[in-house]
Amino acid sequence: MIKQAIIPLAGLGTRLLPLTSVFAKELLPINGKPGIEYILDECIEAGIKNVIFIISKKKIMIKDYFFNDIFYKKIIKKKKDPRIIQEYKKILKYKKMIKFVYQNKPLGTGDAVLKSRKFIKDKFFLMLLPDDLIIKKNCSKSMIKIHKRFNSSVMASMNVNKKTVSRWGIYKLYKKIDKKNFLIKDVIEKPSVKDAPSNKAVIGRYILPKTIFSKLIKQKPGKGGEIHITDAIQSLIKENNKFIAHNFSGKYLDCGSMHGYIKSTLEIAKL
Ligand code: UTP
Repeated sequence: MIKQAIIPLAGLGTRLLPLTSVFAKELLPINGKPGIEYILDECIEAGIKNVIFIISKKKIMIKDYFFNDIFYKKIIKKKKDPRIIQEYKKILKYKKMIKFVYQNKPLGTGDAVLKSRKFIKDKFFLMLLPDDLIIKKNCSKSMIKIHKRFNSSVMASMNVNKKTVSRWGIYKLYKKIDKKNFLIKDVIEKPSVKDAPSNKAVIGRYILPKTIFSKLIKQKPGKGGEIHITDAIQSLIKENNKFIAHNFSGKYLDCGSMHGYIKSTLEIAKL
């Protein structure tokens, strides 16, 4: 069973400047609700019991958002507003399942994941990148089903425009399992159009084995000088660990860029 999830939140969010010069992008509202709450709701619905947030000192406002009890209690005592009571109950529910760990230098997603090593108990865990919202169908839930069926690692995937491959982790297919699931032969972080083995991209949902930590400890920086989770995954694939790419059915919204962030509000408002 997959019961634990990791969410890296320690990045700088430069694509959303100037907003991110003072604000954590994961708390920016998308149709009136912080992006991170969509991710937490996806986790809860998928059966996740505890979530590890990797934050930095600069993003302490994420912790403050969930740990503001005195403030809520005072307001509720004064106003007894049912909406505020409801919101506070929701925050309490999230708070109970979150643990915070720190990555004070943004050395890459792989380094962020490594920071949570001590807290991972089971053989496999879920990782979600909060910039990637997937709506209309719970992607984590579908991936957990695939994991149970094949007892393997799973990554969310979708076909992207060939011209944009350098924005993603791109994989080479080894074998088709069925219409939506594929065995992966190789995965390359942000390849050039020339070097990309396909137009099949990995999206921010991963079911990873605990053994990935032993790869991350030894891993050297890759593209752009960062320690990427993709490179550790490639090392595991090369040692014959099974990784399945799952073409999810929901709709993907990229909230990490300004254009994508604005578009995601419009898309969610339509639901
Ligand atoms: P990105 O590289 O897409 O986002 O990381 P970023 O660095 O925050 O934003 P830009 O590219 O400067 O606009 C994907 C996720 O991984 C986290 C980020 O917070 C984001 O949620 N991350 C990234 C870390 O936690 N640590 C890192 O060192 C890098």
